[in-house]
Amino acid sequence: MSEAVARGRGLSPRRLLLQELRLVYANALEEHLVDGTEASRRQACDIGRWAIAQGIGVLKTAIIHHECLGRILVRLSGSLPFKEGLRRAAEFLAEVLSQYELAHRRSREAVPALRALNEKMEREIQRIALAVHDEAGQLLYAARLAISAAADAASPTVRQRLAEVEAILNRAEQELRQLSHDLRPTILDDLGLVPALQFLTERVSTSTGIRVHFECSLDGRLGADVETGLYRIVQEALANVARHSRANNVTVDLRRELTRLTCLVRDDGVGFDPAVLWRRERGLGLIGIRDRALALGGRLQILSRPQGGTELLIVVPLKRRASSACAVKPAATASALIQTSAPAPEASQIKEVS
Ligand SMILES: Nc1ncnc2c1ncn2[C@@H]1O[C@H](COP(=O)(O)OP(=O)(O)OP(=O)(O)O)[C@@H](O)[C@H]1O
Ligand SMILES: [Mg+2]
Repeated sequence: MSEAVARGRGLSPRRLLLQELRLVYANALEEHLVDGTEASRRQACDIGRWAIAQGIGVLKTAIIHHECLGRILVRLSGSLPFKEGLRRAAEFLAEVLSQYELAHRRSREAVPALRALNEKMEREIQRIALAVHDEAGQLLYAARLAISAAADAASPTVRQRLAEVEAILNRAEQELRQLSHDLRPTILDDLGLVPALQFLTERVSTSTGIRVHFECSLDGRLGADVETGLYRIVQEALANVARHSRANNVTVDLRRELTRLTCLVRDDGVGFDPAVLWRRERGLGLIGIRDRALALGGRLQILSRPQGGTELLIVVPLKRRASSACAVKPAATASALIQTSAPAPEASQIKEVS
């Protein structure tokens, strides 16, 4: 069935995808039950890889296996001994699932690499922020001094023009300060995550007109990597709300539970189709949020409904990192899935992004 026809019949892209998997799976499984060749094993691996690439979870794949197997065993009951059928089916399923295992192992190996990359990126951002602030700031200061000296000896008309130039330079300096602050807010280093998020949410609220509610049950400082990671996550989530959601309200809720930190960003905007994450031409923001969460040993869940807003939930474990960065340090100052509700029931689930 073509995508257009499926859409015409009201099938969501997700359902279409599952239907395709069912079809391909049933054919390949039957081939394996009948012949059990190397080629059909390879097909099983290909199916596993394809399902992962399409964001189809291991549970769904196992359910599809079960559904297909039941039908095929009934059909082949005259020609294939039941026990042998089950043995070959288990073999086939193991090949499919081996791809999930491989992907899981790769993602575990990627975590330290992601962490190192984030640290490197953060150092580079810090360097650029300083350069913008100090070097460009110094040059502008020197230009203002030169203008002021020139103005002393100038005619009133020229002095007036120089005053206009100075006003432009002042604006440029303010913009550069803002840029350098956006790149790396000093408040994050000096006072920690909570004051930095308070500042950020207030600024987003003022500049966008969206009401940003910041709720927090977190006391004390966290490790630098956790503070930076969560700050960047909320920064991108709010940028997305401002750019895409058309929301009136957004809540940022940061909590410390016994063994984990949770960070929820929920808006009441237009929501979106989670399938965007698997598209080739997708943006980088949500992927970046997912990678930052992974680098902290955590995870991201996205729940989004058309007209029902978007919820991003980031969970970062505390226990595993208790001896190092994630442990809460004594406070100095602080107090402080992808889914759309498409008509199809299958599309209404929380999507874990891994
Ligand atoms: N809060 C939101 N409300 C509505 N749609 C959203 C929201 N967050 C993300 N989206 C949708 O998800 C898409 C992917 O977001 P993502 O942040 O990955 O990329 P982007 O914002 O388009 O580009 P980039 O972040 O790389 O500049 C967006 O283009 C938008 O369609
Ligand atoms: Mg974005």
